[in-house]
Parts: sequence; C-alpha cells; structure tokens
Amino acid sequence: MSEPGIPLSRPNLTDEEIQSVVEVLHTDRLSIGPRLEAFEAACAARSGRRYGIGVNSGTSGLHLCVKALGIGEGDEVITTPFSFIATTNAVLFERARPVFVDIDPESYNLDPTAIEAAITPRTKAILPVESFGNPAHFDEYERIARAHGLLLIEDCCEALGGVLGQRPVGSFGECGVFAFYPNKQITTGEGGMIVTDSAPIRDLCVSMRNQGRATEAWLSHARLGYNYRLSEVNAALGEGQMRRLDEILAKRRRAAAMYDRALGDIEEIHLPPMAERERASWFVYVVRLADRFDAAGRDKVLAHLRNAGVACANYFAPIHLQPYIMEMLGTKPGLFPVTERTADRTIALPFFAKLAQEQVDRVRSALEDALAALA
Ligand SMILES: Cc1ncc(COP(=O)(O)O)c(C=O)c1O
Repeated sequence: MSEPGIPLSRPNLTDEEIQSVVEVLHTDRLSIGPRLEAFEAACAARSGRRYGIGVNSGTSGLHLCVKALGIGEGDEVITTPFSFIATTNAVLFERARPVFVDIDPESYNLDPTAIEAAITPRTKAILPVESFGNPAHFDEYERIARAHGLLLIEDCCEALGGVLGQRPVGSFGECGVFAFYPNKQITTGEGGMIVTDSAPIRDLCVSMRNQGRATEAWLSHARLGYNYRLSEVNAALGEGQMRRLDEILAKRRRAAAMYDRALGDIEEIHLPPMAERERASWFVYVVRLADRFDAAGRDKVLAHLRNAGVACANYFAPIHLQPYIMEMLGTKPGLFPVTERTADRTIALPFFAKLAQEQVDRVRSALEDALAALA
C-alpha cells in the first residue's frame, strides 16, 4: 500500500478551539459580539497597535484600507509584482493604478532601492508585502514613505507574529492587514484583520465593513459600505488560535529548521532567504532552483513531487503577467526580471506546524529524485 500523500498545508486546531466554536453556536450572538472584540484586541496587541478591525478576509481588509486612506482614481500605488493577487486587486477595486517595482533577489520583497525612481506626482501610497512571512525592509519602506509624504499600507497577510528589529509585524505605516485562510499561521476558516493606531481609519473601516452604517442604528447608512463582517464563529476560532500563536510559530520554526538541515546540502536549490530564521513567522517554506534551471524544469520537479505524493506549488506567479493585468495595465514579460527569474524557479514544499521528520525525509528524497531526473 502506498504511503499517504503529504499536504501543502494543514491547519493546527485543538479540541478546545473547536469546542469554543460550538459554544458560540449555542448562543444568540453569531455575529458582531464579544468573540470578535477579543480577537481584535489580541491582534492589535500582538502588532503593537491600538485598534484591530476584524473582517471576512485579508482581501476585504486591504480593500477597506485603500478606501479608508482615500486612495482612488488617478492615484498611483507602488507595490510588488511578486505577491498573492489580492494585493494588486485591492488597489484596482478603487480604480487606482498599481505601479509595480521589482523585488530584491535577497529577500523577495519590494526592492527598497528601486522605489524612489517609481515615485511620481500621482503616487499616493506604497503597498509592500512580507512575502512568505519575511519582514525584511519594512523600516526602509516606512522611511521612504515619510520622506516623500506617502501613505504606507503593510500587507502582512503572510507574517503574523513576526518581528523586524524591535518592531512587530503589523506596526509599519498607517495600517496593516493580516489574513486567516486555512494555510496561514493561524486560521479562522476565512478571515482578515486590519490593525492601525488611527481612530479615524478604525471608524471608517468599522463602518464600511458593516454596510457603511453610521451608528448603532441598523438602517442608518452614512457611506457606501460592504458586508465584510467576520462572524462570531470565525472570531472564536481566531481568539483561541491567537492564544497559541507563540506555540504555533515555534512549531513552524522547528519545521523550517528540519528542512534547512535536510535540504541544505542540495546544490541545485537555494533555501528560503529568511534573514532572522528564529524570529520570523514562517508562512510557507519555498525553495528556489539554481539559475541554470528554467520554468519548464521547475514544472517537471513539481510533477515529480506530486507523483511521489508530495503536494507542492509554484509560489508566486508574477502578478504583472496575469492576462487581465496585462490587459488593464499594459504590462508584459521582461519588465520585472528579478520577479520573473524568481517566480520561474520557486517551489513551495509541504509546510505546517506538525510536519514530521519522516515527512521532511520523504520530501528530500522525492526532490533528489526529481533533480536527478532533470540532469
Ligand atoms: C500577501 C497576501 N495578501 C493578501 C491575501 C489575501 O487574503 P485572503 O485570502 O484572506 O483574502 C493573502 C492570502 O491569501 C496573501 O498571502
């Protein structure tokens, strides 16, 4: 009998956390209640912010931040082409223009040395991402934003609990956004969280996530709004997961260290470029094939791993090469060579808190076989 496959990600939930969801279901408050408030407070505290605003996804959170900061038609937002698509979509929702800047090959985050050349009189904000949980350069982005009078939104959807220097992830710029899809460090099933120190941003986001309501009066609407509410069911899960965040992050660091040891001597790959491996919040474990390989080789490795029961993915596909983005923004291959070179060669391996040494060994052996088949 063949061994069971190894999934790409797996939530880490305790019976107690599952029970907390059941408890909510026994109450009359299934939305907008005490679990949401507690979850918001926990996320705000962890990111060194005054306020947390729970929403139903990271994408909704980014959208509300863009709107709350008054970013709209005619404005440019400098962002990275090497991210999950929602980063760019949040800008497009408001008819503002994403202006891509290439990434730094050492961190996979927006290249801070390339930002200033992209600033124009229309630039209103910078929207960088902690790719794969790496907080590198956020202090530099903040410095650049301040020097040029620009707003900074931190897309920290992949980096909850990480630290850069003395600063927690989520504390940079006007606001930050976390996400809690089941592949994330902690999950609420679906969910997101805006964190900010600004009372006006908080008030706008609270109103807009709830149909633009002005006050407690249910049918009084002050502005265009959405239903981006996070239910008590989801928030209960988030509250429990937040209580165990340090334990979960420690387990994920341990899993990353197991991979580092198991894969460190494979000459054909580069390990994840996470500078501070012990303080980072690991979202995924992404290796990069050496420069002599290409996307076709990478795809063969993916196919080989999948055949061996090892789930894997090409993380990320460049945003500027998605067909609708090319059509909307006129982007084309060759514009962001570091992003393209990186995206052609990166592979996300199975990664979750309870990853076992035996699974890491299986991944290594499948990877070695795949690379040998390429030679
Ligand atoms: C960098 C980044 N931004 C935004 C999002 C969007 O989050 P969600 O899937 O909760 O909408 C994600 C997560 O999937 C992400 O990784």
